[in-house]
Amino acid sequence: MKHIVITGGAGFIGSHVVRLFVTKYPDYRIINLDALTYAGNLENLADIEKYPNYFFEKANILDIAALENIFEKHRITDVIHLAAESHVDRSIVSPLDFVYTNVIGTVNLLNVARKHWAQDLSKHLFYHVSTDEVYGALGNTGLFTESTPYHPNSPYSASKASSDHFVRAYAETYDMQTVISNCSNNYGPYHFPEKLIPLFINNIIQKKSLPVYGDGLYTRDWLYVKDHASAIDLVFHKGKPDETYNIGGFNEWKNIDLIKLMCSLMDEKLGRAPGENEKLITYVKDRPGHDRRYAIDASKINTELGWKPSATFEEGLSETIDWYLQNTEWLQHVTSGAYQNYYTSMYSNR
Ligand code: NAD
Ligand code: TYD
Repeated sequence: MKHIVITGGAGFIGSHVVRLFVTKYPDYRIINLDALTYAGNLENLADIEKYPNYFFEKANILDIAALENIFEKHRITDVIHLAAESHVDRSIVSPLDFVYTNVIGTVNLLNVARKHWAQDLSKHLFYHVSTDEVYGALGNTGLFTESTPYHPNSPYSASKASSDHFVRAYAETYDMQTVISNCSNNYGPYHFPEKLIPLFINNIIQKKSLPVYGDGLYTRDWLYVKDHASAIDLVFHKGKPDETYNIGGFNEWKNIDLIKLMCSLMDEKLGRAPGENEKLITYVKDRPGHDRRYAIDASKINTELGWKPSATFEEGLSETIDWYLQNTEWLQHVTSGAYQNYYTSMYSNR
């Protein structure tokens, strides 16, 4: 019987992973451990909170005593670790917050897991969810593979790279069973409106300007969040111990092309004249150290585990926009209060 702690389960990707595991595996106990920072929101899980195999523990991964209690109380057998500070722009303003949660928090979790599983480490798995940003930036060609050298460029990616190294080091040094996956940019429902896609959907709804960083020719590889959750399910159950898997959408978009697509889809959905939303596009000061291009070679997870994305980008993006249009209350809740201060401080000087 598995008692899995999923950290960061109240966040964007974590909530999709929790929902998938709770509904697909009624025999597992799923413990959502989350500090409920600005990015964590229990409304993301309102539909499954009554399930008998779902438990929520409000805790910070910097609080070792709280982690010990949760491992003890729920007799945790496995970890899927997503809790993190996740936004590059915030990491440029407050790098230390990223060191605390992403590096020290991960090491705390490794230590507590190792201690509680000491009797037989081979029966337990520590799954660390990471990002393709650890590999740095690509030029016009090439893809990130699992053997691409780490070359992080932002405080966020440096902190995630560091956490990946610690997980790998714990596998080597202490014989813990670990697995790491490095995924490309996700999009979908429950995405906090500080990242490109949900921020721009929200701004288009409100007819606010769309701040495009630099020349807008930066490239990202977008994956629907439910496909990331299904990949995590597969890697958790079938991945080889101590391996790493790249996960990506085979779906590269230059920011400006993606933004124009969102504008035209939303002209139609909001009944605005063709071209109306594009008028909101405003080029602003670039992000320092902005990575030019990310693109994942996901052939290992495809050939070894049989995973591939199920949603096309057009379907996924359209579904995502519809979700935001239908969930205005969720959007209002997360953009009230502290969000206004964040927005002013992040965008007023650009
Ligand atoms: P998110 O910011 O939406 O959610 C993070 C969650 O972690 C929140 O619920 C927050 O409350 C919680 N959290 C933060 N600090 C904590 C702490 N100290 N203790 C306990 N809980 C804490 O992030 P996300 O976009 O869902 O990303 C989840 C994971 O996936 C992260 O590890 C991120 O690096 C990784 N990832 C994200 C993407 C992406 O496109 N969003 C892509 C690849 C990998
Ligand atoms: P983001 O969603 O922050 O993800 P990441 O930086 O982790 O890839 O940004 C995606 C791309 O969009 C990135 O090239 C930066 C750009 N961007 C803008 O042009 N304007 C914005 O307001 C934001 C938030 C991002």
